[in-house]
Amino acid sequence: MKGKLITFEGCEGCGKSTQVRLLQEYLQTTNQQFLMTREPGGTKISEKIRSIILDKDNKEMVDECEALLYASSRCQLLKERVLPALDRGEIVIIDRYYDSSFAYQAYARGLGYDFVAAANNFAINNAQPDITIFFDIDPYHAFLRKGGADSTDRLELAGMEFHNKVYNGYRALMEKFPQRIIAIDASMSVDAIHNDVISLLKSKGFIQ
Ligand code: TYD
Repeated sequence: MKGKLITFEGCEGCGKSTQVRLLQEYLQTTNQQFLMTREPGGTKISEKIRSIILDKDNKEMVDECEALLYASSRCQLLKERVLPALDRGEIVIIDRYYDSSFAYQAYARGLGYDFVAAANNFAINNAQPDITIFFDIDPYHAFLRKGGADSTDRLELAGMEFHNKVYNGYRALMEKFPQRIIAIDASMSVDAIHNDVISLLKSKGFIQ
């Protein structure tokens, strides 16, 4: 892999999407080659898988099915778009990657680390992120800022206890992978967070 793989992670309402957009604008105005995408989604097939996963009518979906669908969507995105871009030497930014599966499916759903690791080993074939930025704000404060959950999104409706487990899952991952996962205080202003993102990625030599 000649390029750099950067992933963004965090709980619902952590401000990740805003920061993705600001980073995109920064890379465009500074003329840097990049691919920006999101999970689940980013390809025609992965977007179809996304709509199955997030559909609030799919209440009977079992946790294992959910985890495997995320892994399938990831595999398609990786092979169709991410790996070719990395081979071309581009910067690739993904809004969520396999750490989301560890935080949500392994920790919060309770499937356990080994199940999710096994499913993802098939899916990603060792494509590890060069850096993962964790937008660190706890779910209570994130939802407060956002003004409540999105009533059309099955995952957002899962309840506070679930989202606290997701947050604790992320904290456990940070302890497990302290070199790769870097936290940024996501309770700061949008501009302050953006400046931290840019300084961090510049200091690693991933962007200019
Ligand atoms: P999305 O609307 O994109 O949420 P956000 O803007 O917070 O990223 O929906 C993605 C949802 O899927 C979100 O609730 C997190 C969840 N998810 C998992 O549970 N496991 C995964 O592996 C991924 C990629 C996402």
